[in-house]
Order: sequence, then structure tokens, then C-alpha cells
Amino acid sequence: MKKTWKKVLDQIAPYQPGKPIEEVKRELGLSSVIKLASNENAIGPSARVIKAIAEAAGDVNRYPDGGCFYLRRALSGKLSLLPENFVFGNGSDEIILLTLRAFVDPGDEVIVADPTFLIYHIASMIKGAKVRTVPLKNYRYDLEGMLGAVTDRTRVVFIANPDNPTGSYATADELDDFIDRIPDDVLVFIDEAYYEFARGGDYPETAGMIEREDRNIVIARTFSKAYGLAGLRIGYGMARRDIAGVLNKVREPFNVNSLAQAAAIAALEDEKALKASLTLVREEKKRFYELFCSLGVKYIPSRANFVLVDTERDSVKVFDYLIKRGVIVRDMSAWGLKGFIRVNIGLREENNVFFRVFGDAVREIKQ
Ligand SMILES: Cc1ncc(COP(=O)(O)O)c(C=O)c1O
Repeated sequence: MKKTWKKVLDQIAPYQPGKPIEEVKRELGLSSVIKLASNENAIGPSARVIKAIAEAAGDVNRYPDGGCFYLRRALSGKLSLLPENFVFGNGSDEIILLTLRAFVDPGDEVIVADPTFLIYHIASMIKGAKVRTVPLKNYRYDLEGMLGAVTDRTRVVFIANPDNPTGSYATADELDDFIDRIPDDVLVFIDEAYYEFARGGDYPETAGMIEREDRNIVIARTFSKAYGLAGLRIGYGMARRDIAGVLNKVREPFNVNSLAQAAAIAALEDEKALKASLTLVREEKKRFYELFCSLGVKYIPSRANFVLVDTERDSVKVFDYLIKRGVIVRDMSAWGLKGFIRVNIGLREENNVFFRVFGDAVREIKQ
């Protein structure tokens, strides 16, 4: 049989998501499984969000509002931006794809950190771009190194802030300096999937940046994490009107489904639920740090809802040990982080189970 698909696809390993709970239960014959592997929100949707979804369910015979009118209006009010500054996506993943579709031709260059969120690399390769990778320095983005990697062919630089899988972040001063020095024909994609967790202190407030006439910037955020809507797939990009305009041109007409739009509006209004999620993560993260310190295990301080941990052991063995006892985490060896796992903050009871089982793993697995 003749292979007629694009050659680049033979070089791409498919994205491996965290293992689903039901699959692990089935495969290992476990009745109770805890998933701390995909940086999801452990609390789940609020009653208000569930009601909004139920109300919207009666209209799913109709196509969704392709322009996300009400959500656009709600966000523009909340963030003091114009409705035209937004583009909505089937998860913020789609904002990455739309940006590549609108800004990158085959043979163009894209700069990504290594390691970082894998979709930047995979999606750029599929677009036919040449991907230049810049290693992290001390588990942080090396912005200086990324500036040094820019060539005449560079079209897009991806910055995850905070980063996944490290949870580290670029400060407001660092990011300002980077944007001031990047050439004006390079688009800076700032991925703020974990924005709500990271806010405060020297973490940058970027929404105001998009109006710069001298720089091309897209900021992506999502309802999947702090707002707890990962299963509905909805995220958004913010950009100058002309940039948001081209991103809107290249998206599918009905890319965001109606249940997701209704849920996102309700989630934005439900400030109490957001606060509960942020408080849980803030308080429980402290307990994770305490556990790692007491076990003598190194971790990277995180501004997000997950922690990257250097087990200083074979992380495949640690992963196996945990999953056999019903705790799913992410082994990070495939990301080039040998010995590391990434674990996200769950409910207090779930975290207690992780603490117990991970403690046993560290004591029993010697290397
Ligand atoms: C850095 C980063 N960007 C984007 C995403 C994608 O999120 P969404 O569910 O909005 O597509 C994730 C999800 O894990 C992420 O970690």
C-alpha cells in the first residue's frame, strides 16, 4: 500500500494524555482510582454551571452561536477589552492551532522551550514548520536563549506562563523585556492556561499588552483548569483587533459548542466556585511541598495546580507502583525529564491517598 500522508507525520509521536480513570479501573481491576495526571480541577462544576448546561441541553438541535456573543460580552466586560479582541476555541489548544494556521507557512520557524507543553511542537511540525527548541535553564524558560534563537524565518515563539510541566513562570519584568526585544515580525504566543492560579506578585498581567501596535501578541486562556470545564473544551485568545480578526477567519464556523458556551458564562459568574478552586490548590499545594520536604524529595515550586517532582528514582517504577494502587500521576521520562513525575493537586482526601502511596513508593523503590 502506498503511503500518501505527509512525511512529517511519520516523525511525530502522538500526544499521550493522562490515563483515564475508567481505563485504569478496567485494566487493573481496581474499584477506586484517583487521577492526578492531567492538571484538571478536582472539585468539578458548580451547581450553577450544571444548571446552565442542563438548560442549554434542550437546544442542542441548533448550531451554536459561532461568535460566542454572550461569552464574548461577559469576558470583554470583565477584562476591559473590546469584544473584537477575542477569539474562542475548542479548548485553548485550538487557539494554538489557529495561530499556526494564520501565521506559519511550511518552512517557517517556530521557537519552543524544551521541555514544555508538547502541543506547540507537535502542531508546528504538522504545519510544516521548522521547530527550534531552547532548553529550559534551571527548570525555567530561558528567554535570553529564545531571543538568541530568532532568525529571519521565525514567525512564532511559544511561551507557557506558567509553564507545564515545571510550574515555573516568567515575571512581569522578564516578559516585558523579552517582548521589547523580540523583532516586530515575530508573534509572541503567551499561553496562560494556569493564569487564575498564578496571579499576583510579580506574575505579569498581560491583557493590556495586546494593544501594542509595535508587537504581535496572542494571549491564550482556558476554562479547563481553574474553571473546571476541561470536558467541554473551551478556551479563548486575546489579541489586537486585527490579529483576533485573522484568527477568527481561520477557525471553523461552529468550533465552540453551545453547552460549553453556556457553562463558561455561568462559570465566569460563579466567583465563589472559582475562589474555592483557587483556595484548595493554594492550601493543598503547601501540604504537597511539606510531604516532599519530609521525604527528602526535590520539587520545583509551582505557580500552577500541579507540581513537578524529581523522585531521584526510576520514574517508570514509581508510576507503576502508584497506578497499581489506584493513583494516576504522569511519568515525565517521555518529556526528557528522567526520574520526574508530575502530580496535580486533587481533593484533600485524594491528596491524602497520594501522600500515603507516594511515601511508600519512595521508601520501597531504592533507585
Ligand atoms: C500550558 C497548557 N496550555 C494549554 C493547555 C490546553 O488546555 P485546553 O484544555 O484549554 O485545551 C494545557 C493543558 O494541559 C496546558 O497545560
